[in-house]
Amino acid sequence: MTSNELKELFIKTYGEGGDIGTYFAPGRVNLIGEHTDYNGGHVFPCALTIGTYGAIRVRQDDVLRFFSVNFPKGGIVTSSIHSLAPGKDTGWANYPKGVIWTFEQKGHPIPSGADILIYGNIPAGSGLSSSASLEVLTGLMLSDSFKMNISMQDLALYGQFSENTFNGMNCGIMDQFASAMGQKDCAIFLDTNTLEYEYAPMKLDGIRVVVTNSNVKHSLVTSEYNTRRSQCEQALKELQEVVDIPSLGALTPEVFDFLAPSISDPVIRRRAKHAVYENRRTIDAVNALKAGDIERFGQLMNASHISLRDDYEVSCTEMDVLAEEAWKIEGCLGSRITGGGFGGCTVSLVKEEAIDTFQAKVGEAYTKRTGLRADFYVVDIGQGAHVI
Ligand code: GLA
Repeated sequence: MTSNELKELFIKTYGEGGDIGTYFAPGRVNLIGEHTDYNGGHVFPCALTIGTYGAIRVRQDDVLRFFSVNFPKGGIVTSSIHSLAPGKDTGWANYPKGVIWTFEQKGHPIPSGADILIYGNIPAGSGLSSSASLEVLTGLMLSDSFKMNISMQDLALYGQFSENTFNGMNCGIMDQFASAMGQKDCAIFLDTNTLEYEYAPMKLDGIRVVVTNSNVKHSLVTSEYNTRRSQCEQALKELQEVVDIPSLGALTPEVFDFLAPSISDPVIRRRAKHAVYENRRTIDAVNALKAGDIERFGQLMNASHISLRDDYEVSCTEMDVLAEEAWKIEGCLGSRITGGGFGGCTVSLVKEEAIDTFQAKVGEAYTKRTGLRADFYVVDIGQGAHVI
């Protein structure tokens, strides 16, 4: 969508007049490093070229108005900058509201109201971070329109804070960070413990990133996610009785194996094992990529899926079918769940000449085994949030 198209939609919704700013924040796909970001581990996501667009016009009073092109039936949602509070309302507008509330919590209250229009092109329920992109987008719209000059990294942190406190999802920093800090044709190797990061080129000769949408989203995603997070916290607490570590990400698999018996519950032990081993896989995968060993990168992706399935238990039949069928295709280097799990998408690395076969065979087998249709996106890696 262009800036002019957005402005037209904005004027149709709210009327003429004043300066209208237009912005975009992308969704993300994570290549490897799943459920490590709230455990002080590493992640390796990249920004997509699909995401959420926004237009904003500052008002002179304290009224806030929100409209989503995707949910026209909801009409214009109206609020005030003084009446925002967590847990009060439901619906999509709770994401931008949460970010506005967060600005105040962080010492940057917005001085007046605004009219906001949103349009997103991330498939609903796909797990490609439509909510994080909406949060980062809102942050950028506010920071730019009210001339607050908040850094992109802080906008990512505000988005996460908002999601944790306003929307009740105890997510880590990965999704918002990728949406805010993404760079074209690169993945971000991020240490979530220190927020140090580096960009790694992902324009690979003859290999593409393919995202497969299972078109299922199981309920309980948020509650299961929050449970996994507290299980990891429990594991850390028990380990801290025998070793001085700030997070599970500080342990190597070797030390973990030695200390694991001090975690009493076998389920909690498996959760922690995933977090520790997945962190190592992520570091190894980035090293393999740097050394040009893409085959090894793919094998680590497969191992990641197996660990998410067996130790972390965030997979489901549909995701396992997609991964298993992908593993059978010659020219598919690796395939795994991406994102929180319980549905959503897999991410695969596929040789260009095998993409047609990949889509045909995986699609057919998926329908045969589950009765559902899969959608395939051969993705481009895009830029982080920006003015358009
Ligand atoms: C969701 C969360 C992220 C991350 C992933 C799992 O996408 O928002 O913070 O924890 O799940 O890796």
